[in-house]
Parts: sequence; structure tokens; C-alpha cells
Amino acid sequence: MEKLVITGPTPLKGEIFVSGAKNSAVAILPATLLIDGICTIKNLPNISDVRITCEILEGLGAKINWIDKNTIEVDTRDINNTIAPIDLTRKFRASYYLIGSMLGRKKEIEVGLPGGCNLGARPIDQHIKGFEALGAKVEIISGNVCARAEKLIGNTVYMDMVSVGATINIMLAGVLAEGTTIIDNAAKEPHIVDIANFLNTMGADIRGAGTDTIKINGVTKLKGGQTYSVVPDQIEAGTFMLGAVASRGDLIIKNCVPEHLECITAKILEIGGNVEINGDSIHVWCDTKPNKANVKTLPYPGFPTDLQPQIGVVLSLADGTSIINESIWESRFQYTNELNKMGAKITAQGKSAIFEGVDNLYGASVYSTDLRAGAALIIAGVCATGTTEIYNLHHIDRGYENIEEKFRLLGANIERIIE
Ligand code: UD1
Repeated sequence: MEKLVITGPTPLKGEIFVSGAKNSAVAILPATLLIDGICTIKNLPNISDVRITCEILEGLGAKINWIDKNTIEVDTRDINNTIAPIDLTRKFRASYYLIGSMLGRKKEIEVGLPGGCNLGARPIDQHIKGFEALGAKVEIISGNVCARAEKLIGNTVYMDMVSVGATINIMLAGVLAEGTTIIDNAAKEPHIVDIANFLNTMGADIRGAGTDTIKINGVTKLKGGQTYSVVPDQIEAGTFMLGAVASRGDLIIKNCVPEHLECITAKILEIGGNVEINGDSIHVWCDTKPNKANVKTLPYPGFPTDLQPQIGVVLSLADGTSIINESIWESRFQYTNELNKMGAKITAQGKSAIFEGVDNLYGASVYSTDLRAGAALIIAGVCATGTTEIYNLHHIDRGYENIEEKFRLLGANIERIIE
């Protein structure tokens, strides 16, 4: 069993280079299935979700050539299988993007029901509603999603709620459909724009990504033959921004898109931290105890649910009592039990949690309950007095490349140990 051992407290100081976005990469890779050709993808985060997605693509007939640890060439000329490796697809959430892509390319696909972090109910009814509107038949048989279509014909799809995954999936299905697909009440996250940019670079005709209405004019073929670089990871950048504040450190976070992080910047300023933007770098520092603040998670451009546990660590150490309302996921406060083992005073009930700020956290043995919870526990371990051991690292490795090396570069006393 692996664990991270952190001895603190250490203010995080120095410069950090943000990797490509996980949530973009895990959609761009399935999107390559729409290409009848070869493409090159750069700035891919080298994380387990990406490596598993590559294995799945190979299972469907794609040829993948790793040029370096963050660049691959994908040859999707010969996609000869319409049953995805079921066990692999059950391991993570984004395997649902295989449905939209393969419906587009082969009009048929069978995948395992998507897995991923346990954040409460994670239905895919909006995805299915979209595929059916385009003419597909979707059935759940023995825990697998089986989707097929005679042909896909563009249609207007209104999302009942703002869903990142459903927006991307319907966009994928619309690329090679006949006619025009319109997605109303679409999600606007930066990686939706990134995936649309990737597909357009390869020959698609998608307009309006990043707004409430996305219009996809179907094309007959994506030729590929291009190189695309994945957008920097907004959530990784935000994780380090909040790590700087929680540890009362001083970080320059490089390779980010500051506009994607405006709500984090605003919250950091509200709680008494400092933020300076310089091109694609963000300088964040904090030399006082943060002020209390209330946070409500919302779809982009609101405060991202994927940074909720990380700001939870900051508010655990703030002056006064703060409230977080989680409006996206039912069960995203499991990490608060772990922080309480470290001396935090958090009362979570349903979709809200009350954080009574404490002066110090103390080292303890804790369990990463999901990916972002794991990142939050690393920040907590860096801030805490004494030694923290973090278990369940597979969650963290799904989404952060070289996490302990990056924290070590910033001064953290952190080691990965195999027991
Ligand atoms: C994506 C991200 C995840 C992030 C989340 C919200 C990936 C791989 N994952 O997840 O890290 O936490 O966005 O920013 O990109 N919903 C339905 N029916 C559906 C789809 C969603 O009811 O068919 C609900 C969900 O239960 C949830 C809300 O809509 O309450 C938002 O979910 P969604 O945006 O779809 O999240 P994911 O795409 O799964």
C-alpha cells in the first residue's frame, strides 16, 4: 500500500508549472475516435485517467505512439471494435465520452456504466436524452450502456440542468451527424471550449462553445493531420492558489489562463490574500490568517465544485465561521471527517458545511475519499503541525501529475512510501 507522508508546517514558496487539464484530456482522447486520420496531442497530463483512456482507445483499434511523456500521436484510421474494454471503462467517469464519439464514428458502442469519484448520485439521463434526440437508441443492459443508431440527425437539445459531461457528449455526437445540432442551456466550462477548439482544428464546425447555446453543423469527415495542445488545468492552478493561501506562502503559478480563475482570485482577495496576474502567471501570497467567507459551488463561471475541498482547508484555518454550500454533488463533504481528525471544526450536513476556523491543524492518518479531497488533504498536511499520512493515493493519481514532486519543489516535506 502506498501513502504520502508529509511533515509540516511549511509555507509553500516558489514557482510551479501547471499541467494540461485532466477534464479536457479525458474528453479530447475519446474525441480522436471521430477522426479518420492521425493527430498529435501535446500538453497531455500524464495521469492514470489519461493512460487508461489510451488503453481503451487501443482496445477499439486506435494506434497510440507516445512521443514524450506529455505528447502522443493517435492514429484512428482503423477503428475496428465497437465494444470498449468494459472493466477499464468502469474505472472512471469520462468513459461516457466514448458513447458520443463512437455513435458519431461507428453508429454503435457498448461501454461499462461510468465509474469515477463517489460524490453521490451521478445520473447520465441528459446524455441519453441528447443521443436519443439525434436518433440513437440507448439501453442499459447488464450494467453496460449499449447505444446504436441507423444514422444521427441534428436536432435541438435543451439541457434540463447544466451538465458538463452531457454538453460535451452531445457535442461529440453532433460533429458527424447530418444537419445542425443545437445545445441549449449548455455548460460553459473552459474545457468545453477546449474540446470544441480541438474538434474544429481537426475539421469540425462548432460555434458558441463557452456560451449557453452551442451550434454544431455536421460535417462528413474529420481529417485530422493537426497538432493540438491541451488547455492548462484550471483546477490544478486553483489547487496551488489555495495551497498558497492556506499555508501562508508565496507562489508563482505558471502556464495558466487567469480568466479561468477569476472567481478563485475574487475569493482569495475577499479572505485577505493577494493575487497579481502577469500574462499566463498568477502570483498568490498570504501573510495573515485568512478571513472567514461563504462559498457556494456553481457551474462555470461560478466557484467550481472541484475546488470546494481545497478552499475548505483554507476556511478551516480562517478567522471566524464560514459556510460552504455545495450545489452540484450530494456527497462532497466526506473529506471534512478527515480534516476533523486533524483538528478542524467542521459540521457537515447534506449539501452544507459550517467551518469554525481553528488556529492550527495537526498531523494525523487520513484517507483520500476522492480525487479533490486528496488534493485538499495534501494542502492540510503541508499546513499541519507534525506528520500526516495520506492513504488511498489512487484517487489523487487519477488527476494530478507528479503531485508530490510538485509540492516538494515548493518546499513541502513530502514523500511517497510503499508499505
Ligand atoms: C464534470 C467533471 C467533474 C466536475 C463536474 C462539475 C469531468 C470528467 N468531470 O463531471 O470533475 O465535478 O463536471 O463541474 O469532466 N446531472 C444529471 N444528469 C445528467 C448529467 C448530470 O442530473 O445526465 C447532474 C449531476 O448529478 C450533477 C450536475 O448535473 O448534480 C452536474 O453534473 P455534470 O456537470 O454532468 O458533471 P460531470 O460531467 O459528471
